[in-house]
Amino acid sequence: MPFISLLYFRTAAVFLLLGIVMGLHMAATHDHSTLAAHAHVNLLGWVTPALFGAYFAFNPGQAERRLARLQYGVYVVGVVLMSPMLYLMLRGQAQLEPMVIVSSLLVLAGAILFAIIAFTGPVRMVAPRVAAE
Ligand code: HEM
Ligand code: HEM
Repeated sequence: MPFISLLYFRTAAVFLLLGIVMGLHMAATHDHSTLAAHAHVNLLGWVTPALFGAYFAFNPGQAERRLARLQYGVYVVGVVLMSPMLYLMLRGQAQLEPMVIVSSLLVLAGAILFAIIAFTGPVRMVAPRVAAE
């Protein structure tokens, strides 16, 4: 597996644990005020990075590009900042909204970089038969 995929899956695993803990906390306390933080930690932190990791695993040519590392850095810094800021904002810290906006824009920048990667560069797909060996 390319290094970037390993990084993405490790990142995704950490966010999955965080997302589940947040979900269990909501369920246990019956306080669903942080629903949006839970949903986005899971979707932006677990599901999307796992998809990025899978993309790079199936496209090893793309994984070697420096752009892939830049994309990882921008996207993950965005989600790492956005998650606690959004959580705390929903817990009443309204003054954190500008930080949520800035970190959301970083996440958007990471998504734009992924789109650039997906539309450019080498396409060297791993056939499922080869991947299974
Ligand atoms: C044991 C693990 C989990 C628990 C206990 C849990 C618990 C919850 C709870 C209590 C809510 C609020 C429901 C409401 O107020 O209507 C919720 C919403 C949500 N959860 Fe989880 N969750 C878990 C895992 C996940 C995972 C793994 C994902 C995504 C991959 C996820 C995605 C969502 C989404 C998208 C919402 C918002 C749904 C909506 O808009 O109504 N959850 N979850
Ligand atoms: C930086 C990127 C994103 C921003 C700024 C954003 C923003 C928002 C906002 C403002 C809401 C409404 C929240 C509310 O009514 O309380 C929302 C809801 C939702 N978003 Fe996102 N979103 C982003 C990315 C995504 C992605 C990539 C997914 C799916 C993979 C997603 C899935 C959802 C879902 C399922 C809901 C309904 C659950 C909830 O209320 O939190 N979002 N989003």
